[in-house]
Amino acid sequence: MEYKEFAKGVKIPVLGLGTWGIGGWETPDPSRDDESIASLRAGIELGMTHIDTAEFYAGGHCEEVVGQAIKPYDREELFITTKVWHTHLRYDDVIKAIKGSLRRLGLDYVDLYLVHWPNPAVPLKETMRAMEHCAEEGYTRFIGVSNFDRSLLEEAQSYLKDHRIAANQVEYSLLEQGPRETLLPYCQREGVMLIAYTPLAKGRLAMRGSPVLDGMAYKYGKTPGQVALNWLISQDWVVAIPKASQIEHLKENVGAVGWRLSPEDWRRLGEAYR
Ligand SMILES: NC(=O)c1ccc[n+]([C@@H]2O[C@H](COP(=O)([O-])OP(=O)(O)OC[C@H]3O[C@@H](n4cnc5c(N)ncnc54)[C@H](OP(=O)(O)O)[C@@H]3O)[C@@H](O)[C@H]2O)c1
Repeated sequence: MEYKEFAKGVKIPVLGLGTWGIGGWETPDPSRDDESIASLRAGIELGMTHIDTAEFYAGGHCEEVVGQAIKPYDREELFITTKVWHTHLRYDDVIKAIKGSLRRLGLDYVDLYLVHWPNPAVPLKETMRAMEHCAEEGYTRFIGVSNFDRSLLEEAQSYLKDHRIAANQVEYSLLEQGPRETLLPYCQREGVMLIAYTPLAKGRLAMRGSPVLDGMAYKYGKTPGQVALNWLISQDWVVAIPKASQIEHLKENVGAVGWRLSPEDWRRLGEAYR
């Protein structure tokens, strides 16, 4: 695995584990929990020790499954992210939400707590003060946001007194290059980690059939999915959280790490899908 510096003295793996769909979708479905626990553990063993979940996923059951999966591991080896849903952004609701997440995860603290989506109906200042409170109380080591554009990210930061926004989790892939324009340059300048979600475009980028990606995969002796993930993690201040429930997929995805596309191929690939 390769790591990037997340904050002073704190590193996270360039590839983490997405969990949307684990334990159910919008409501709990425990029917595949054993399988999910096995695949999360396989991912951790492969070095993908950053696990991304949310209170919204499977109505909270996803956090419970993650909690079960991580039990045998040393807490300090893991980097656990969860998120507060946009209907819980009032001050007291944020605090209640993180306590619920910690209970379901079976943890005393998470590493990163994110505002899942902005909600214009709730003053952002109130939400960010609550996020800061969560950090002060030790419920989370770092705070951040998700699905925030650059101006909202700057606004969110302006409401924090003693903390900084450590990460913004947004959709970013060869097929969704929106963050490249203004958000990523800002994150790189300010030292905000851009966590790329849906990095394989829901699996589409891992399939053969697209000539440019197939050509690059052939040239580097990799698969299209490995090239697509490598394209993301080659960029400063970008890490990715592909979701894979199949162990073969997890093994394939870690093959995106430990090599680099040439700068020319990186540029060509980006242009081809822009
Ligand atoms: N903050 C937000 O608003 C937000 C929104 C969306 C997602 N997320 C987070 O980001 C994570 C990843 O995004 P995502 O789940 O939307 O999409 P994704 O990671 O781009 O794609 C997941 C899909 O790709 C398949 N896949 C993975 N590796 C593969 C491989 N090597 N070959 C072929 N297929 C492969 C998976 O199949 P199998 O499962 O069958 O292996 C799954 O169907 C989520 O799980 C979630 O944690 C956050």
